[in-house]
Amino acid sequence: MEVFNLRDFEDMAREKLDPVFYDYFASGAQDEVTLAANEAAFRRLALVPRILRGHGPPQLAGRVLGCESSMPVLLAPTAFHRLAWPEGEAATARAAREAGVIMIAAMLSTITIEEIAAAGGTLWFQLYIQPDLGFTKSLVRRAEAAGCRALVVTVDSPALGRNERGDRNDFHDLPPGIFCANMRGDGNVRQVRLSPEISWRHVEWLCGETQLPVLLKGVLHPADAAQAVDCGVDGLIVSNHGGRQLDTTPATIDRLPVIADVVGGRVPLLLDGGVRRGTDVVKALALGASAVALGRPVLWGLAVGGADGVARVLSLLRGELENALTLCGADSPGALTKDQVVG
Ligand code: FNR
Repeated sequence: MEVFNLRDFEDMAREKLDPVFYDYFASGAQDEVTLAANEAAFRRLALVPRILRGHGPPQLAGRVLGCESSMPVLLAPTAFHRLAWPEGEAATARAAREAGVIMIAAMLSTITIEEIAAAGGTLWFQLYIQPDLGFTKSLVRRAEAAGCRALVVTVDSPALGRNERGDRNDFHDLPPGIFCANMRGDGNVRQVRLSPEISWRHVEWLCGETQLPVLLKGVLHPADAAQAVDCGVDGLIVSNHGGRQLDTTPATIDRLPVIADVVGGRVPLLLDGGVRRGTDVVKALALGASAVALGRPVLWGLAVGGADGVARVLSLLRGELENALTLCGADSPGALTKDQVVG
């Protein structure tokens, strides 16, 4: 099968993967309303090109929170890459490094953050704050020592979303030999805690604990965005966890304008959820995002061809983004304006 776009990769990955693992990657919570809404919302929005701008090919490279990136696309943190490919996150990290984009390494990776750093380029570390703050601090110290350039705190997970595909498949444990490598110590693997006790107090604590920029991932309400900025966080990711946590939350692209309004450019805004086309990236940039992050398509690339598969996913998206910017009359992501998106 020839691959022409990111959706083709999903079809190929479905053929290659164990169906239980495919379902783990593909599924959303409950009725998967949000999962479908993320992509549907991008399709519903229309792009209005500007004409006769008379410039050269668009420049895609820029900086996100001080980190160079060859395009405004990051790899979203996703767990358990060794379910997709034997080398797991090392292959993903290599592809991200070669493409010159930032990888957000998940706390629930199947090799350690140190091993990912050995393979990777620019890394950020995603964290679920654990009620055991001593342990959380030790993870932060490890991420810093491994050279991670920012911490991404996922805040949409006071509990695990209900995944019915996983329940039907009775998929509750990782296969033998695959485990959350960052959670291992003293011969056993520590249980991950997603706790409703985590609050703004913990975010303030974390900001005081580290010199690294701290981003909150999973912001959908403008009041929370405002509080986050007041609290001193350095960036926000508008995300509904790819529809895997609370089902029936709105599509992220539909929440972006209201959040961009309250943030008013004080900190960078990122978005993930349903990004599958260069035109999706352009819509998010025009509506106020500094960059987007890509979740499942990276996993499909990894499942199909390891680092080469991820590299191909990134290069397809880069080509589409360059083409969409050119057709929109923009010589850079920053040249897009919000009146170029109509809904
Ligand atoms: C995720 N996501 C996620 N997010 C996070 O903060 N920590 C994590 O461990 C994971 N794990 C994870 C596993 C899998 C299989 C998926 C699909 C997603 C959410 C991820 O970072 C991102 O928000 C979404 O994947 C973005 O949506 P798309 O691009 O998959 O539509």
